[in-house]
Amino acid sequence: QDPKKVDENSKNEQLEQYRSDDSGKDLTTNQGLKLSEDEFSLKAGERGPTLMEDFHFREKMTHFDHERIPERVVHARGFAAHGEFEAYESLEHLTKAKFLSKKSKKTPVFVRFSTVAGSRGSAETVRDARGFATKFYTEEGNYDLVGNNIPVFFIQDAIKFPDLVHAFKPEPHNEIPQAATAHDTFWDFVANNQEAAHMVMWTMSDRAIPRSFRTMDGFGVHAFRFINAEGKSHFVKFTWKSTLGVHSLVWDEAQKINGKNPDFHRADLHEAIESGDYPEYELGVQIVPEEDEHKFDFDLLDATKMWPQEEIPIQIIGKMTLNRNVDNVFAETEQVAFHPGHVVPGIDFSNDPLLQGRLFSYTDTQLIRLGGPNFHELPINRGVCPFHNNQRDGYGRQTINKGKVSYQKSSFTNNTPAPVSEAEGGYAHYQEKVEGRKVRKRSESFKDHFSQATMFWNSMSDAEKQHIIEAFSFELGKCDSIDIRQQIVDMYANVNLKLAQEIAANIGVKAPETGNTDTSKKSPALSQENTVKSAKT
Ligand code: HEM
Repeated sequence: QDPKKVDENSKNEQLEQYRSDDSGKDLTTNQGLKLSEDEFSLKAGERGPTLMEDFHFREKMTHFDHERIPERVVHARGFAAHGEFEAYESLEHLTKAKFLSKKSKKTPVFVRFSTVAGSRGSAETVRDARGFATKFYTEEGNYDLVGNNIPVFFIQDAIKFPDLVHAFKPEPHNEIPQAATAHDTFWDFVANNQEAAHMVMWTMSDRAIPRSFRTMDGFGVHAFRFINAEGKSHFVKFTWKSTLGVHSLVWDEAQKINGKNPDFHRADLHEAIESGDYPEYELGVQIVPEEDEHKFDFDLLDATKMWPQEEIPIQIIGKMTLNRNVDNVFAETEQVAFHPGHVVPGIDFSNDPLLQGRLFSYTDTQLIRLGGPNFHELPINRGVCPFHNNQRDGYGRQTINKGKVSYQKSSFTNNTPAPVSEAEGGYAHYQEKVEGRKVRKRSESFKDHFSQATMFWNSMSDAEKQHIIEAFSFELGKCDSIDIRQQIVDMYANVNLKLAQEIAANIGVKAPETGNTDTSKKSPALSQENTVKSAKT
């Protein structure tokens, strides 16, 4: 495909060649052999045994037997849609990324929303973070912004991710309970990994029970880098802001809906798009010049910290509109492979140790989930620009590579693809100077786990605070270990004494007598009351 032609429809056009409308067609085997009968297997006599030579039966049954692939190890339950992103202005002064380079430039996107903890068949209005993953099909390759609807994360270092997930998934000896936050192992993990304090405040808040995928914000969570044509680097954090504003369910409602309609969120998104009521999200960026890296009372590289809007304002740079449902959930929603390492020139990584570990994890898991190294050739994952390299073979290879040379460098002329310079669009990593001893350590600057959790609490309205107390009381009240309940209550006295005392009273443990009573530091923008833009839903 001609890269110059990339616009909001180019992905749709590309997918057209893979779509198959089988209705009214002659029934055939996978080899194209027309079939005269499809209801009865081939038998030796009308009442006799089925014959081995029944290739049609064998092919049909074998394909069915292999229809399932492993569900995602996290974010298994998801729903997706196509759309477009339109840049409001040129960001050329900050990044050379072409999809952000011109006012009104449009780029096709594919977005998958998900819960994190539940299995593929689980209910949708559970208390959990929501995934918000966006694939931009740009003329320079796919750019994936793999975010959540909560701006911070439970842990600071990727090496703890398997522990975190083992703690919030159903307990392994009995697979009970399904709920992420209502059991011993989740709270045990939190008590012993207090860096989770801030994110747990968000998961106990109304943000963790969104009314709809259309009424949640999204966050890239980590610091990334923008690099401009002069090679200047700025740190950047990404935020999606729903134009409908942020709306949540209340807990009783969420539980009832889970029982009555476990497909509530997917149906809502699907119906909105079918009826032309397209969900929209504006993209915001917070920018910090590289030289200001150490000017804040938190570390920019710490994923348990947000960048308060009061200190680092959000600049709105474009809008995404979701305007087309998928044709086939398996082919598109299930087979899509997002990866925070899918970047384009002008976007680079920071040294956030959570991000650094994610850069390994996604391809690694997709190699098994999608059955080998060729999943970039699946229609939903293909870029709208061509790809050429010396990678060959493997399960499910679809490309027929011509020529005898598949290596670099070669004296056979013009036989292999060759790297291009940065000036010609070749990706070059930002040349950050790095020095240090090899250590397994957390930086001292990552050690404050409570200040922003307190700021979050202080920023809530009275109703939001009450919901947080009730959520802690409900979820922690499901933890059988009184000792762990007590540890959590004592831990949250560091966030706010009254919060801890009220939870303690509700779940029958000793109320702490001392703790944090400072109510001064707030970020009004954190309250949903200040986020809601319209009550359209
Ligand atoms: C999915 C790993 C942190 C957002 C996944 C998957 C893995 C994973 C293995 C399944 C991918 C697949 O099967 O295609 C990790 C690790 C993390 C981490 C190791 C930390 C060290 C995060 C954070 C966010 C996030 C901080 C949000 C900023 C997502 C989303 C998906 C996902 C949205 C679902 C993508 C989809 O819809 O297909 N993650 N993750 N993850 N992760 Fe993470």
